[in-house]
Amino acid sequence: MRKEWKMEFVTKASDALDVLKEDHYDIIVSDMRMPGMDGVKLLEKVRKKYPDVIRFMLSGYCVQPIQGRAARCVHQFIPKPYEAEKLSKLVSRAFALRDRIRSKKATEVLSNLKALPVMPKTYQQVIDKLSSGSSSPREVGKLISRDIGLSSKLLQVANSAFYSNPTKIVDPVRAVVHLGLKAVEGLVLANGIFSKLPEDTIQKFCVDGLQQHSVRVGMLCRNICESLKMEEEQLELATMAGILHDSGKMIMIAKYPNEYHKAIEISRQSCQSLIEVEYELLGLTHMQLGGSLMELWGLPNTIIEAATFHHEPHHCEKDEIAIITAVYAANKIDHEFCSSLADGFYAPVSQEYLDLLGLGEFWQSWREKHLPINIREYSNVS
Ligand SMILES: [Fe+2]
Ligand SMILES: [Fe+2]
Repeated sequence: MRKEWKMEFVTKASDALDVLKEDHYDIIVSDMRMPGMDGVKLLEKVRKKYPDVIRFMLSGYCVQPIQGRAARCVHQFIPKPYEAEKLSKLVSRAFALRDRIRSKKATEVLSNLKALPVMPKTYQQVIDKLSSGSSSPREVGKLISRDIGLSSKLLQVANSAFYSNPTKIVDPVRAVVHLGLKAVEGLVLANGIFSKLPEDTIQKFCVDGLQQHSVRVGMLCRNICESLKMEEEQLELATMAGILHDSGKMIMIAKYPNEYHKAIEISRQSCQSLIEVEYELLGLTHMQLGGSLMELWGLPNTIIEAATFHHEPHHCEKDEIAIITAVYAANKIDHEFCSSLADGFYAPVSQEYLDLLGLGEFWQSWREKHLPINIREYSNVS
């Protein structure tokens, strides 16, 4: 990559800090074990001094004991052994999205968030299990049931997503079966973002309602994609994209509770789109924040695009019917049917956009798919 990137390689943490003093860098990739200062100490220093620098950590197998500390200063772990090609792809992706979002501020806000990514032990285990690709709902459910906070949240969401069902789901294993693994992955990630919010903030912003909105959008998004005859793999991704589409809002709430509350009020009172008010008041939007976060977490492009463009899908460079369209539609439909007092004003769906994709005629049938949608599926699962 030396023709495309300007790179400096050093062998000691103190040398890295000297290099950073000399010039501006977009990203630092550090090893964990180094003579003198270790990787975590180095990245902690970089976070404090240069918050907009993206921090990657190459980590070996014995990373567990210091993961708690490392989790507060590392944006992206890259497990060893790794391939140079994979590393350069991850770096390129971090750059590409930064260019597309063009918000230095979003990256700065994320770099300054101490709890990013949040990785308590169970959380990490659940994600590891889910990302291994071979896990069964039973295994994941069992793992989740060991974490009281996480499992009660999962049950709450599973029950509210299936609110029309007379029998409550009380077992995390069943919750995982009903929601699907990708949905759970989305929830575990989303839960990681706002589990640290203070209780009064959770109440003030109806965070539970936001979470339920996310799950409904995920479910509806899947159903829309199913009606568009997408493959199972795409359907899973669609659920996750829907669940995580508003994750930027949680960062807004965590970072700017007062300003964001004001933004919602202005948006509702003046019927001005919340996105516009966010930008006027804070200089960035929840889409930019969510997109940047998904990018830094190394999630698939579909997820990043859903977070980044869910209110403006026409800005997403896609020349075919894609998941982003379904997320856009599902979000509009859910806002129409389940508006929350803690939410702002949004423009109605753009029929022009749907017509352009040849999807205008499906709009009504998509609305009819809004929850309660899964009663039939639900009763089929034992
Ligand atoms: Fe949104
Ligand atoms: Fe939304």
